[in-house]
Amino acid sequence: MALAGEMQRKTGEAKPAARQFKPLEMPELEYTPGLAREMAPLYEKVKHVIPSIEWPFFAPYIRAINKLKKERGAVVLAHNYQTPEIFHCVSDIAGDSLQLAKEAAKVDADVIVQCGVHFMAETSKLLNPEKTVLIPDSKAGCSLADSITGADVRLLREKFPGVPVVTYVNTSADVKAESDICCTSSNALKVVESFGTDRVLCIPDEYLAKNIAKQTDVKILTWKGHCEVHERFTAEELRQYRKDDPNIVIIAHPECPPDVVEEADFSGSTSGMINWVKEHQPKRVVMVTECSMSDNVAVENPNVEFVRPCNLCPHMKRISLKNILESLVYMREEVTVDPAVAVRARAAVERMINLGN
Ligand code: 13P
Ligand code: SF4
Repeated sequence: MALAGEMQRKTGEAKPAARQFKPLEMPELEYTPGLAREMAPLYEKVKHVIPSIEWPFFAPYIRAINKLKKERGAVVLAHNYQTPEIFHCVSDIAGDSLQLAKEAAKVDADVIVQCGVHFMAETSKLLNPEKTVLIPDSKAGCSLADSITGADVRLLREKFPGVPVVTYVNTSADVKAESDICCTSSNALKVVESFGTDRVLCIPDEYLAKNIAKQTDVKILTWKGHCEVHERFTAEELRQYRKDDPNIVIIAHPECPPDVVEEADFSGSTSGMINWVKEHQPKRVVMVTECSMSDNVAVENPNVEFVRPCNLCPHMKRISLKNILESLVYMREEVTVDPAVAVRARAAVERMINLGN
């Protein structure tokens, strides 16, 4: 399949920002004794997940980013898969895909810096067309978003006339524009059932669709897209965790293959998994998902031991303190969406948000 998202990804120069921003000077990034003192309370919070040897490198960036956010009138949105120094130290709003989409719609700042992948930044732009949306690295893609194009959706509609099309938010604006409504992993079942039809196309994540299909009488047609992080987990691996420790609790993301989700004690979106841990406080847990999330959750759950299989999302990991700072200094890389596409894509995202209300 063509790298649709890659080809359709648009950043930067195409459209001027609503407000003109001047590039600033790159701030000094020295770890002085004064800065160490000023940042000590923050380090206290994250010391269990950020090694002390790394802090002198992170701290000057964190201070500079937080200062610059005020000067630029910017907010930083971070997905749950961002690393702890981003998630806990510079983000204003953190959450799963649905929460970020909803919060993006309410943002009052002039500038949104999206710490996540490109489809998330595009969703923020769709919901905030008049704001400047920046992504620190526009190459932060997604194997799911890259698995399908708008043209593919049009072909599916020809093949299955009258069948409603639900697209996962992990898609390009072109794909969203061709769909009836979007969904995320936390509302997919509700969205699929909202049509009252006997068949629904739920694309492009084959595994999410199959996991949802087990919970409904609606016949779900899907696509062969997979998340390159979650498809790597196996049911055998999970059974081995249980053999090693019969008391271990296993929670899995619904982008995992269905036999993996079957083995889990709970399955939910990233925020669903976080809330589950907060509420149940298991003694030992394995979160079958991108591995930065365990670090982020560990900060607020000191009594829970996390077993951490480390499957990293290479796209999420393109975002760093360095490129967030550069983003704010140079106001790059701006995310734009063709207005004709944006109108239809926005409608699909807003239908999803309104369904929740
Ligand atoms: P959620 O945060 O919506 O569960 O999505 C997970 C994901 O893979 C986002 O890229
Ligand atoms: Fe895409 Fe999977 Fe990475 Fe999420 S974790 S951005 S679904 S590749």
